[in-house]
Amino acid sequence: MYNQKVIDVFANPKNVGEIADANGVGTAGNASCGDIMKVYLKIEDDIIKDASFETFGCAAAIASSSVATEMVKGLSPEMALNIKNSEVVEILEGLPPQKIHCSVLAEEAIHAAINDYISRKNNESKTES
Ligand code: FES
Repeated sequence: MYNQKVIDVFANPKNVGEIADANGVGTAGNASCGDIMKVYLKIEDDIIKDASFETFGCAAAIASSSVATEMVKGLSPEMALNIKNSEVVEILEGLPPQKIHCSVLAEEAIHAAINDYISRKNNESKTES
């Protein structure tokens, strides 16, 4: 069902696990398959220095998480918000139609983690003022 690229990334995923001092954490889930993806971001000086994930899901979800966390490293949070699941699919050289939603989870989890970072930052500035 999967192409070789997806199989390779799934077999050797990058950025697996938690970042203990992450300052942006986001979760996305798909109700129909029950898969869940959690993304951790460490953002400093407006740059995503590190990104990781914990995914309880299928091979496509794990491969998508690996690709998406690699893509956002070195980007500003604003730029990372522009990441689309179609770019994840492109890097994976395609996913079966019934597995496209797995790449959507990666996009959503990245967005959720960035939004978490932004709201933490806003809360900090409120507390400081
Ligand atoms: Fe649902 Fe892959 S089958 S995330």
